[in-house]
Amino acid sequence: MTQGVALNRQSPLNSMNPSARSGRIQAVGLTKIFAREDMNATLQALDNVNLAIEPGEFVSIVGTSGCGKSTLLRIVAGLEIPTRGEVLCDGKRVNGPDPQRGLVFQEHNLYPWLTVRGNIEFALKSAKKFKGSQAFVKKLLEVAGLTEFANSYPHQLSGGMRQRASLIRALAVAPDVLLLDEPLGALDSFTRMNLQDEIISLWKERGSTMILITHDVDEAIYLSQRILIMSPRPGRITSELQVPISYPRNRSSSDFVQLRNVILQRLNFARESSEEFNL
Ligand SMILES: Nc1ncnc2c1ncn2[C@@H]1O[C@H](COP(=O)(O)OP(=O)(O)OP(=O)(O)O)[C@@H](O)[C@H]1O
Ligand SMILES: [Mg+2]
Repeated sequence: MTQGVALNRQSPLNSMNPSARSGRIQAVGLTKIFAREDMNATLQALDNVNLAIEPGEFVSIVGTSGCGKSTLLRIVAGLEIPTRGEVLCDGKRVNGPDPQRGLVFQEHNLYPWLTVRGNIEFALKSAKKFKGSQAFVKKLLEVAGLTEFANSYPHQLSGGMRQRASLIRALAVAPDVLLLDEPLGALDSFTRMNLQDEIISLWKERGSTMILITHDVDEAIYLSQRILIMSPRPGRITSELQVPISYPRNRSSSDFVQLRNVILQRLNFARESSEEFNL
């Protein structure tokens, strides 16, 4: 069981993307206590969470519903202030949101007054990356199956389409750090697998640091180099695993299946121990 993660780890990706130098995330002693006015009580969502994520590394966080994953990601994004502890991005303390750290929310956060294309172009312009990217926007729209809906507004799309549009908007910008909170949650398995492949190919191409939250253990193994397991009440990182399988990964290989079993066992252990202590 590991509470924290050793700092200055060498990521296998550094050799794949030697140019990836920014996007180091460190979190030290993150604790978050929410005031629950409805219950006249407090709720501890996070307890002493430590992270050390290398530039260009792909890390997934898995854990049961309500264990504090979104809270952790929102703190890393600078949208939530920790009760104790701090987050550093490239050695600088995170005090608020910054385009250097892109976030895809569990629920989409598209601008309702802009079309799908408008949303992507606006994000690219804000990040000053618009020049020469028309072809890239076209390709992303194709990959996400949204070419026909490029000129539609968010309210004219299905939930899954909005989620895809939100994801490609973030991928288009390729920030130093991409924070993904269940970005594929509402999608059918076929679209989901296509987008997983697209996430890998853009990650390899751009070298952003990726932090992905997912309920789907297979998705975590398929995509990431390292998986952190969280236990609930209060949210803690209880375990960490490397994924020593080369890309592209085969979901039915014996390494993959073995790792899936280990993670499921650890998730179950995390849930049971938390019930023992809290109920
Ligand atoms: N703004 C808030 N005020 C009060 N409590 C909150 C707030 N945000 C989150 N919580 C509580 O903190 C705990 C962790 O919530 P969080 O959204 O981080 O969980 P999660 O792991 O992302 O869950 P899920 O997998 O269902 O998305 C929950 O018990 C939730 O009720
Ligand atoms: Mg969540």
